[in-house]
Amino acid sequence: MKVEVALAGRSYDVSIGAGVRHQLHSVLEERCPDYQLCVIVTSPSLLEEPWFDFVPEQNVHFVEVPEGEDAKRLEVLESVCEELAALNVSRSDVIVGVGGGAITDFAGFVAAVYLRGLRLIQVPTTLVGQVDAAIGGKTAVNLSSGKNLVGAFHQPVAVLCDDETLATLDLRDRHSGLGEVAKCWLLEGRDASEIPSTSLEQLIHLSVALKARIVSADEFEGGQRALLNYGHTLAHAIEALSLRRSRDELRHGEAVAIGLGFAARLAYALDRVDHSVVANHDDVLSRFGLSSAVPKELVTADIVAAMGHDKKARHDLTFVLAGPSGFETVTGIDERDVTDALEEFRGEK
Ligand SMILES: NC(=O)c1ccc[n+]([C@@H]2O[C@H](COP(=O)([O-])OP(=O)(O)OC[C@H]3O[C@@H](n4cnc5c(N)ncnc54)[C@H](O)[C@@H]3O)[C@@H](O)[C@H]2O)c1
Ligand SMILES: [Zn+2]
Repeated sequence: MKVEVALAGRSYDVSIGAGVRHQLHSVLEERCPDYQLCVIVTSPSLLEEPWFDFVPEQNVHFVEVPEGEDAKRLEVLESVCEELAALNVSRSDVIVGVGGGAITDFAGFVAAVYLRGLRLIQVPTTLVGQVDAAIGGKTAVNLSSGKNLVGAFHQPVAVLCDDETLATLDLRDRHSGLGEVAKCWLLEGRDASEIPSTSLEQLIHLSVALKARIVSADEFEGGQRALLNYGHTLAHAIEALSLRRSRDELRHGEAVAIGLGFAARLAYALDRVDHSVVANHDDVLSRFGLSSAVPKELVTADIVAAMGHDKKARHDLTFVLAGPSGFETVTGIDERDVTDALEEFRGEK
């Protein structure tokens, strides 16, 4: 299966399916015929995986970076750029990111800034990477003050989403990806009853197609792209509060699932939708095996404060919500309404 991300002069295909990683060589020849060196950015543990069997034998250099989020640091960027300089990497060469969202974000940022831009191919190997991170051109590293604060828009020339690589993924990372898939399923208005008969490849395809359509219409997040933040207002707040204690407490997609369950309730509380929308959200989440329970140890007032942390003065909040004319970004929601809906969602009143 193929999905095109259509961008004037910079369109590219996302290939989806079992074994598509083996297209790397042909994609290099087709999209980068003048390349001399292909620099594979990945982490040591991934190099050991059985599916790491698709790299051309010649004109390849491996750059190993720390695992997961530890790759997304400016120190790592500096040392990788020094490594590229020592190799005499030129503007005609290609960066290939192989890994989860952290590695594709990092490899993308290297490709965006080294020599002011190299061509980039992404081979995402987590579900989050395949349905979200590797598509759309957002690249970044973190600062200690916050995630993704240093970044650039830099589109790849191709993305290879091979579901065979997901066989070695751990269950929590799989769930995290399903949180984003559930978001896409709901944004597409699909019925929960179709989930059991939909294959993983079809779920990836549906999510990629939605993201590709939105990115093609709004590359730099001026409008429509914000819809992809459905479920994320609450998710970011509970993630921020949870991660303060333990990094492993809550995966991003698990938080998104909770945010989706709440967004339906908030839309209902604000008279934007009827109760069947809430019921469909719950059904979708449970069929994907996702929980929408807010972690008990978090205090409702703290969550609401975290949701409004950058808008304190205005005492209002922004959510993507379902409504009579579909999904839209709704600003100016009163903090009191959000608190009431959250207390009810948590069974506190
Ligand atoms: N650019 C974007 O638009 C965008 C969108 C969503 C998320 N992101 C970013 O993506 C990152 C999260 O990505 P993630 O959830 O993929 O986590 P991750 O990249 O941290 O990977 C999680 C773990 O899975 C391991 N792993 C990767 N592939 C594997 C495989 N096939 N088998 C076994 N283990 C494997 C990794 O080594 C890592 O330890 C965050 O940094 C987030 O900011 C970016
Ligand atoms: Zn997300």
